[in-house]
Amino acid sequence: MIRSRKRSKKNRGEKHLKNLVITGSSRGLGFEMARKFLELGCNVTISGSSLSNLDKAWLSLKDYQDRILAVQCDVRKRDQLFNLWQKSQDRWGKIDIWINNAGISQQNNTLWGLSADDTDNVVQTNLMGTIYGSQVAMQGMLKQEEGRIYNMEGFGSNDMMRRGLNLYGTSKRALTYFTRALAQEAEGNNIKVGALSPGMMVTEFITGPTVGKKKEINEETRRIFNILGDRPETVARFLVDEMMKDKNNGSHIVWLTRRKVMFRFFKAIFIKRNLFDQITYDD
Ligand SMILES: NC(=O)c1ccc[n+]([C@@H]2O[C@H](COP(=O)([O-])OP(=O)(O)OC[C@H]3O[C@@H](n4cnc5c(N)ncnc54)[C@H](OP(=O)(O)O)[C@@H]3O)[C@@H](O)[C@H]2O)c1
Repeated sequence: MIRSRKRSKKNRGEKHLKNLVITGSSRGLGFEMARKFLELGCNVTISGSSLSNLDKAWLSLKDYQDRILAVQCDVRKRDQLFNLWQKSQDRWGKIDIWINNAGISQQNNTLWGLSADDTDNVVQTNLMGTIYGSQVAMQGMLKQEEGRIYNMEGFGSNDMMRRGLNLYGTSKRALTYFTRALAQEAEGNNIKVGALSPGMMVTEFITGPTVGKKKEINEETRRIFNILGDRPETVARFLVDEMMKDKNNGSHIVWLTRRKVMFRFFKAIFIKRNLFDQITYDD
């Protein structure tokens, strides 16, 4: 699906604006990053695999609709990522920043307890989606002779392990290696590659249905998220500001630093937060 309003030729590719593509931006962090880039005057292509989620996102960003393009794209399919690039390039002329954000969590289960579908979906979305997205963006950016690609890290990227999160952690650990290796490969081409580390956010990723099933949030997860977690809009503000300033290859933009973790645990002694209060999602 492609939705956009006609835009005058005069505005196409204006130098002061940045043109962006964000995979998985129909809700959660991707959506909030899109909103923030739009507030800064950028042109943004939003995307996601579900048409109804994408429609909702498009409607809630209606104030910016002359600077948004919505393209349905399932990152598990390389041809759909190519279509996402192509449609965005047709619309904006050039893509300055491409963010591989789409990702899914796994059922809290051992590897042998996961269904074949769950197993494929986690690896295909988190890892192959990022690999395909980076490949398509890299090929396009080499032709336009500049651009920046960012990949979204997650639990496991720093080697941390937890029972029940093996597959998700493996996909994110691999993605971190992949991003660093891609930055090295990109040296000398005027294409910069970086990683974004968003910490912990209360989004549908945590509260909502994962691969078709509603998630149980246990007390321990709730407690940790209330200490270390944030709303996606808070993290998006930080990541977008950092990306707008970033000029380096191999950047690692980290929201939840060690220092912040220590400070949050200290603060939790005095202040109780409840991030789960206003969360709603469709059943
Ligand atoms: N929430 C956290 O605590 C946390 C922590 C660390 C890292 N992250 C990472 O941050 C990123 C965003 O997470 P979030 O919390 O914002 O998740 P979210 O609220 O569940 O949003 C995920 C987005 O990805 C899209 N998506 C899912 N499967 C897709 C597919 N196959 N093709 C294209 N788009 C797809 C979703 O739309 P559709 O379902 O309509 O496709 C949605 O727009 C993910 O990479 C996640 O691993 C999250």
